[in-house]
Amino acid sequence: MKRFFSSHTLSALLIASIAAFSGCQQQTGPVSETQPETPVQSEAPAETSTEAISADNSEALAQKEAEAIYQKSCQSCHSMAPPAKSAPSIIALAGQYRARYSKKAGAVADMVSYMKAPAVGKSILGPSTFERFGLMPALSLPDEELEKVAGWLWDQYDPNFEGEGDCQ
Ligand code: HEC
Repeated sequence: MKRFFSSHTLSALLIASIAAFSGCQQQTGPVSETQPETPVQSEAPAETSTEAISADNSEALAQKEAEAIYQKSCQSCHSMAPPAKSAPSIIALAGQYRARYSKKAGAVADMVSYMKAPAVGKSILGPSTFERFGLMPALSLPDEELEKVAGWLWDQYDPNFEGEGDCQ
C-alpha cells in the first residue's frame, strides 16, 4: 500500500516525525540539578522515534534521488504533465503503465530494459507516439539509477488523469 502514498503524504509524515522528534529532544534538554540521574529514563522512547525517522528518511531520500535522476536525465524531453516537450509526459506514461501492468516490479523491469535499448517492438505505446516524437535514445545510466527512476515513474500515477494524454 506504500506505493499509493503521494509525495505530499510522505513529506507530511516526515515533517510530522521530525516535529515529534525535536519535541522529545527539547524535553530531555536542560537537566535539573536536583534530579541528576532520573532523566536517563526517557532514552527508550527517544530511540524508538529515531528509528521511525530513519525509516521515513530512507523513503524520502529514495524519492529525492529519483527526482534528481529525472531532472538530470529525463526532464529535457519528458515534462511532468502535459503539454509534452519532445516526449510523452511522465504522468501520462505512468497512466499507460498502470493500465498495462498489475505489478510494479514487472513494469519497472520492462522500463529499465526499454531505457537501455529502446525499440518499437518493446514499446507499450502506439504507433502515433513514434510518428509524433520518434524513438527514445538509449540511456547509458547505471542499472541502479534506471531502476530508481522507473520505480519513481510508476509512483507518479494519478488516478484523476485519464486517457492517453500526450502518449499519442
Ligand atoms: C532525448 C529525449 C529523451 C530523454 C532524455 C528521455 N526520454 Fe524517455 N522517451 C523519449 C521519447 C521520444 C519517447 C517516446 C517514444 C518511445 O517510446 O521510444 C520516450 C518514451 C519513454 C518511455 C515509454 C517507453 C515505451 O514503452 O515506449 C519511458 C518509460 C521513458 N521514456 C522514460 C524515460 C526516463 C525515465 C528517462 C530518464 C531517465 C527518459 N525517458 C529520458 C525521449 C527521451
